[in-house]
Amino acid sequence: MSRPAILVTRRLPPEVEARLGERFDASLNPDDTPPGPTALRRALSRYDGILCTVTDRIDAELLSVEPLRARILANFGVGYEHIDVDAARARGIIVTNTPGVLTAATADLAIMLMLMAARRAGEGERELRDGRWAGWRPTHMIGRPVAGRTLGIIGMGRIGSAVAHRASRGFAMRVLYCTRSAPRDAPAGAESVTLDALLQSSDVVSIHCPATPETRRLIDDDRLRRMRPHAVLVNTARGEIVDEAALAAALRDGVIGAAGLDVYEREPAVHPDLLRLENVVLLPHLGSATTEARVAMGLRAVENLRAYFAGEAVSDPVPAR
Ligand code: 8YV
Repeated sequence: MSRPAILVTRRLPPEVEARLGERFDASLNPDDTPPGPTALRRALSRYDGILCTVTDRIDAELLSVEPLRARILANFGVGYEHIDVDAARARGIIVTNTPGVLTAATADLAIMLMLMAARRAGEGERELRDGRWAGWRPTHMIGRPVAGRTLGIIGMGRIGSAVAHRASRGFAMRVLYCTRSAPRDAPAGAESVTLDALLQSSDVVSIHCPATPETRRLIDDDRLRRMRPHAVLVNTARGEIVDEAALAAALRDGVIGAAGLDVYEREPAVHPDLLRLENVVLLPHLGSATTEARVAMGLRAVENLRAYFAGEAVSDPVPAR
């Protein structure tokens, strides 16, 4: 029997590409150029499955292609808002993701952004590299402590919970959270509160909910104004959850103190006003960027493909909305 034909949309870690080659008729992407809508549409007609990433927008229009050959979209990553899951289902295509394996990497990065923003690390590094550092002085670049302060977590799933544990164990932070579904493994003492209460009481607010129509621009001008004037906003989830223009204005006008961002509304574009501000740390979507996480994500996607084509239940079907 011929092996399933799989399009792999981006270059992946070598061990993942090797595994794909062992199991499938895999079309790899050594140049790492993202395919774009026309190539993706063609791929849906020509391949049995697609191993895709956050840079592949697979919407209802693409999924209306005829003839359709693809049976599975195995996403490399946990977030899948770039795939129209309902339209895929309607055409009999299963969508899978890779939860769990990038939790630690992303939680570590959220803590790093919290500390960098609170202690002005980006600003300090820019000053030093630009040759503007005039030497130590008692009043130089004073930041804020996080230890013992209050952390508000929006979305207490795997990653939110891992951040909460790091903050409460490592920094003795009080943890507040609000979450749509049942909280996952919240640390002892963490308090479930409304979003408003969380925004009003937290020194640091960290976003860990998925991007959905309900969470689009959840953090807008109005909600930023409910935060404390020294508060730090951290976003390692999805850019769409924060109104970037409103955030830039809030940081400029002192409505909040600082922000640490890993994700943006229109990646790889970043709102130009954010680029001009000193009190925001800007990272290029590095949440899962460790060798361990990226290999595990790839192997998990390969396993989902294997199980599907073997006629077994896949481990990670994305839930129905
Ligand atoms: C991934 C992420 O690297 O898993 C996610 O949802 O945001 C990232 O950490 C990216 O999505 C790859 O597709």
